[in-house]
Amino acid sequence: MLQQQTIDTIKATVPALQEYGVTITKTFYKNMFRDNPQLLNIFNHSNQEQGRQQTALANTVLAAAMHIDNLQAIVPTVMQIAHKHRSLGVLPEHYPIVGENLLKAIKEVLGDAATDEIIDAWAQAYGVIADIFIQVEEDLFKEAEQDGGWRLFKPFNIVRTEKESDLVTSFYLAPVDGQPLPAYKAGQYITVRMSIPGEKYLMNRQYTVSEANNQNEYRISVKHENDPKGIVSNYLHTGYEQGTEIDVSAPAGVFTLDSSDAPVLFVSGGIGVTPLNSMLQTIEEREVTFLQCARNKEVAAFTETISAKVDEIGGTYKAMFSDEEGFVTKDQLENLLKDDSKVYLCGPAPFMQHVISLLRDLKVPEENVNYEFFGPAMAV
Ligand code: HEM
Repeated sequence: MLQQQTIDTIKATVPALQEYGVTITKTFYKNMFRDNPQLLNIFNHSNQEQGRQQTALANTVLAAAMHIDNLQAIVPTVMQIAHKHRSLGVLPEHYPIVGENLLKAIKEVLGDAATDEIIDAWAQAYGVIADIFIQVEEDLFKEAEQDGGWRLFKPFNIVRTEKESDLVTSFYLAPVDGQPLPAYKAGQYITVRMSIPGEKYLMNRQYTVSEANNQNEYRISVKHENDPKGIVSNYLHTGYEQGTEIDVSAPAGVFTLDSSDAPVLFVSGGIGVTPLNSMLQTIEEREVTFLQCARNKEVAAFTETISAKVDEIGGTYKAMFSDEEGFVTKDQLENLLKDDSKVYLCGPAPFMQHVISLLRDLKVPEENVNYEFFGPAMAV
């Protein structure tokens, strides 16, 4: 347990760290990768370049520090991050490296303002936070190993592909050892890790398992980014050869369907349709409305699969193409909502922000709104 004085010091310094949070974490990453380049085999380099991971880590350390005397409050956030860490193979021995570099960065950016007392308090707080992550992650590693699963990565082959739309292709991944795959929950993702010609470090990406259940293969459905920065997407769409071997984590993630029988409203934007389609396919009897948003018909994936399933269970399906109709409006969304609808939302950040703010205007209770951002969670 931390002493009250340490807690007071932490809380008193949160505002200063908030002000310099992003500079501190940028300094931290620069130094950490300079001294520990092997960690570049774990981190997503494009996120680093865009500064996204910096914001996520800074936000989380500060949020955890603010709740240091009631860490219960951040449990849902810890779970989401711990699933991501577990799928990437983040290990206990990585935590001291992160901690040491974080403290050094605080000292470097704040200079004399970071007294020994402050640094010592943050070292203690980081220790408490890191121990929680390590413990939760060890439980998840153990869970992943059960029922024919595995702890870190397992070699898979890309056995075939299928075009889903002008931009989206599905890749079917089968384990090299031919063993049956453990069950997973619809909405979960896998981390794929691969070595790409011309890249010095391994590349890791998370993709939703885009089929509800398959004991022999995982299907991932990947958007062709048409952007030189989309290194993994470009490689998968143009560079791989049949039988290419890649490493795959056991499925992870907390964005899964609740087990109640309340009505469900799925709202997808673009490639965010993948986890929602998987969830939809598991439903046998429940009132379902599916709003699929995309730029246009040509790029929208799984439209037929979704409308067929919705028809089968007697639900409502609506496709909206922003090139023709713009973004969904408050009135349109209100018409699709029932009083106690559970809303599941997935898509690019601007789309999600738009829909989340409409749902707030419509007074949908926060606990009925579930979402997952593609890319690192920006806010806690
Ligand atoms: C992702 C926080 C320790 C490696 C994340 C995310 C957060 C976070 C908020 C984004 C989650 C998401 O995308 O949903 C933290 C905190 C830590 C910590 C608070 C310490 C207490 C570590 C350690 C490592 C690590 C020790 C390994 C050296 C990663 C990686 C990602 C990630 C590779 C994925 C994003 C990317 O590749 O850019 N972490 N983390 N983290 N974390 Fe951590």
